[in-house]
Amino acid sequence: MQEVDPRRALTFGARAEEYERWRPSYPVEAVAWLVPPGAVRVADVGAGTGKLTGRLLALGLEVVAVEPDPAMLAVLRREHPAAVPYLAGAGALPIPDAGVDAVLAGQAWHWFPHEQAIAEARRVLRPGGWLGLVWNGPDPRDVWEYDLARLDPDTAGRDFLADPADNPFEVDGLAPDELEWATFPWLRETDGPRLAGRLRTHSAFAVLPAGERERLIDAMVAVVTAELRRRGTATLPLRQRAHCVRWRPS
Ligand SMILES: C[S@@+](CC[C@H](N)C(=O)[O-])C[C@H]1O[C@@H](n2cnc3c(N)ncnc32)[C@H](O)[C@@H]1O
Repeated sequence: MQEVDPRRALTFGARAEEYERWRPSYPVEAVAWLVPPGAVRVADVGAGTGKLTGRLLALGLEVVAVEPDPAMLAVLRREHPAAVPYLAGAGALPIPDAGVDAVLAGQAWHWFPHEQAIAEARRVLRPGGWLGLVWNGPDPRDVWEYDLARLDPDTAGRDFLADPADNPFEVDGLAPDELEWATFPWLRETDGPRLAGRLRTHSAFAVLPAGERERLIDAMVAVVTAELRRRGTATLPLRQRAHCVRWRPS
């Protein structure tokens, strides 16, 4: 896998309120695909401010929300008081053996210590339960969407002309032939402020020197502003795709 700067895993808490304001959740169909039939209690690991937690609660599930960053967890507690929050990481889950029907993670697997996280998922899953992961990513079709994806350090260089359903995310630690994949396209309305707000919560931007970060954000906002002018609209539908994977321990 491409080396990820370990500092990036620690950037979220400093922007917890912005994260809650600007980051999207996940399509309802994607979350439904990730939850085993008949599930009652699930863990959301690396739960952040609760973007996935909220969707799981809306399905009537009991949600154990595990998050190691106190600032992120404080927002989750406020936004989703029905979840059971724990300040902990994926390598040591505060969940008893066979305690949940699913271990789920939104936009977070790449931050986990994979060997320990898999051992922990095996331990806490009930028989028949599974690990379910989801990431949102861009799904460009228009020139302006390609321009944004090319400028974004997280997606620069990705081949978007390949099958859009191909998974661009690495699922380190799990055997590829043991994984089931599904993808769910969706649209997100954006404009300059919304784009800038979201980009500032991305770890790839947070670790850039301030001047470089703001120049890059300005360049990406300029792409959106030009397209808004061209269309004469106030917002643009930005194509997104949720990539989901399920893994059942053998
Ligand atoms: C991109 S955020 C995703 C948050 C949330 N799941 C969502 O969908 O918006 C990644 C989260 O993973 C957390 N994280 C980083 N290292 C972790 C670890 N070792 N175990 C569990 N969570 C971790 C971060 O604190 C952060 O809240």
